[in-house]
Amino acid sequence: MTEPADGSGTGLTAARTGDLLRDGAERLRGSGSETPRLDAELLLAHAVGVGRTAIVAHADAPVGADAARTYAAAIERRSTGEPVAYIRGIKEFHGLAFFVDRRVLIPRPETERLVELATAEVMHRLGARGRAYEPLRVADVGTGSGAVAVALAAALRRLNAVDAVEITATDISDDALDVAKANAVAHAVGDRISFALTDLLPPSAEEFELVLANLPYVRSDAMSSLPPPTTFEPTLALDGGPDGLERIGRLVDRLPSALAGGGVALLEIGADQGESIVALVAELLPGWRCSVELDLGGLPRVARVERS
Ligand SMILES: C[S@@+](CC[C@H](N)C(=O)[O-])C[C@H]1O[C@@H](n2cnc3c(N)ncnc32)[C@H](O)[C@@H]1O
Repeated sequence: MTEPADGSGTGLTAARTGDLLRDGAERLRGSGSETPRLDAELLLAHAVGVGRTAIVAHADAPVGADAARTYAAAIERRSTGEPVAYIRGIKEFHGLAFFVDRRVLIPRPETERLVELATAEVMHRLGARGRAYEPLRVADVGTGSGAVAVALAAALRRLNAVDAVEITATDISDDALDVAKANAVAHAVGDRISFALTDLLPPSAEEFELVLANLPYVRSDAMSSLPPPTTFEPTLALDGGPDGLERIGRLVDRLPSALAGGGVALLEIGADQGESIVALVAELLPGWRCSVELDLGGLPRVARVERS
């Protein structure tokens, strides 16, 4: 890093943006980041309090001592493998900024597919019902940061349909629910989502027309070989048991009582779990239908489960 002129050995004094970026990226490259320059840009933009574009566009701009110190500390954290999203406290998902910290999984871009499918499903059902008299009930099981529930509600608001749904977001982690609630309030959909601390679904829940879930699906024996940033995320959000499908399987088992007649479950799965989920549904729910939706890369991503 740029040598501090105040002699403290820890902080940085005012420096040029371009120099800080170069030095930070170099440090991160050495520590194994796969995206050192991008990480440095995001962390400097965060320290200065501007957008990344401004940082990239103004290499000669001076950075004050406080911001330079914040940036140096952020680079140190990142060099231990900590994800940029936890350091910034923010992750963009489905066009929205979500608060994130170590209490929750960092929402992944592939989960946007689940939100898109859910939005289309809700709109289709509302259209088919004509004039709605009762809200359409949706569950987001294992809500984490609230990514799916909040992004769905925000998408429905843009389509003038948010008042026609009632979303229940659950998690087994109280800490995660605190983050999800903050995100719902921040995106002005707190009144459309109720939160429940429970194992999968509340025991006496009413039936849902749509059950959404991105539950943990990493096989327990693969947990130790996850990339370093992932080791900062909660084990509870990742470990899916011996075959990766323990939690999803338990949810599938509950669908007959949780899903209203004609209801559907959309369950995110791992890219190598397409065949396993179809086999699991056939075993647990004979006579039900399970098809697998692919992501943009052509990989299995979301299982669609419904009564035949
Ligand atoms: C893979 S993370 C997904 C978080 C969020 N839905 C997303 O897509 O970013 C899985 C979440 O499920 C929660 N979870 C794990 N087991 C659960 C259970 N038995 N019941 C409810 N939630 C559970 C975890 O705490 C975690 O927040």
